[in-house]
Amino acid sequence: MSSQRMAETLGFFQAWLRSPLRVAAIAPSGRALARLITSEISPDIGPVIELGPGTGAFTRALIARGVRPADLALIEFGSEFAVALQARFPAARTLWMDAARLDTVELFGGAPAGAVVSGLPLLSITPRKVRAILMGAFGKMRPEGAFYQFTYGPRCPVPPRLLAPLGLEAERIGGTLANLPPAAVYRIRRSTVQARDRSELPGL
Ligand SMILES: C[S@@+](CC[C@H](N)C(=O)[O-])C[C@H]1O[C@@H](n2cnc3c(N)ncnc32)[C@H](O)[C@@H]1O
Repeated sequence: MSSQRMAETLGFFQAWLRSPLRVAAIAPSGRALARLITSEISPDIGPVIELGPGTGAFTRALIARGVRPADLALIEFGSEFAVALQARFPAARTLWMDAARLDTVELFGGAPAGAVVSGLPLLSITPRKVRAILMGAFGKMRPEGAFYQFTYGPRCPVPPRLLAPLGLEAERIGGTLANLPPAAVYRIRRSTVQARDRSELPGL
């Protein structure tokens, strides 16, 4: 591990000691999870919003997939992370704010995003706030845009009773054992988009 990564891991652990519920993991996500959560993202998808980037594990993977840093908005509530992200990714727009207030800011000059990548600890966030986060995120995306969320749990961290009233559905896109702890990734989309995709399948 490079000395920069070691410093990031130590900083992450210290942030967890200070705010265990907000940080909700003792170490940054590993590369396998970062590759998985960004696996459906390419530069032509348009701007990408990242929620809860922490030390930037997913940010680096997004850039490795060709997303231009200028097409990234990094929404981070932890001041220790926000300051470091700003220094590490100066061409991206880092906002030190609560992701539940996404509807109050204008991003990318008003252009809609193609995807949202979330490292938020949704299981330790109240359902009311999760709803606000989803509404803000989908309000900033194109109709076919997708919200990618990882979890250490056995199912999508946003239950159908929260998704359905918002017209959303979740689908597991994969899992990785090469993360500590093992994790899975869900794609949350508007139900109408999924219905259209199904109607395009042969035989339906
Ligand atoms: C589990 S860590 C994930 C960090 C990084 N994405 C990774 O995978 O290594 C959760 C991150 O979400 C941030 N966070 C928690 N609640 C937030 C909120 N309401 N708005 C924005 N960021 C938040 C934390 O500060 C932390 O950086």
